Amino acid sequence: MTEKADEPVKYYTLEEIEKHKTSKSTWVILHHKVYDLTKFLEEHPGGEEVLREQAGGDATENFEDVGHSTDARELSKTFIIGELHPDDRSKLPKPSDTLITTVESNSSWWSNWVIPAISALVVGLMYRFYVAED
Ligand code: HEM
Repeated sequence: MTEKADEPVKYYTLEEIEKHKTSKSTWVILHHKVYDLTKFLEEHPGGEEVLREQAGGDATENFEDVGHSTDARELSKTFIIGELHPDDRSKLPKPSDTLITTVESNSSWWSNWVIPAISALVVGLMYRFYVAED
């Protein structure tokens, strides 16, 4: 993160970003930053089609799924024109992996504690039952 202190951040609203999904002007959002990829479309090693599909919206998940190299990330910085307005950040669809993590962490809480606890109780009761029978 090397932001020059003397350059105030330019904020764009989601409404404004959504207009830039044409070949004349192609913007995408990555990690709440706004990228103007108009000039990069033809040079993108992954093809222009994938960028066009995401134009005017949040491409963070797809960008991360590809596992872009450090070089690609360095290059991407040169296209930053500003940031998504903080008021509009909550309007972006939540990345689906957050949901998976939540579900996973819930299920691991369940299986880590509740199931072993019940199993222990049942085994304990059975043991007492057999001991009492003798
Ligand atoms: C500022 C934005 C971006 C830059 C600078 C960039 C740059 C690059 C570069 C340099 C590569 C070559 C491989 C590498 O070095 O990792 C690449 C590959 C690729 N990129 Fe991007 N990219 C950007 C955004 C995106 C987005 C938003 C998507 C998806 C929607 C995407 C999808 C792909 C795909 C599918 C490949 C091909 C991967 C492969 O063939 O293994 N890129 N990109």
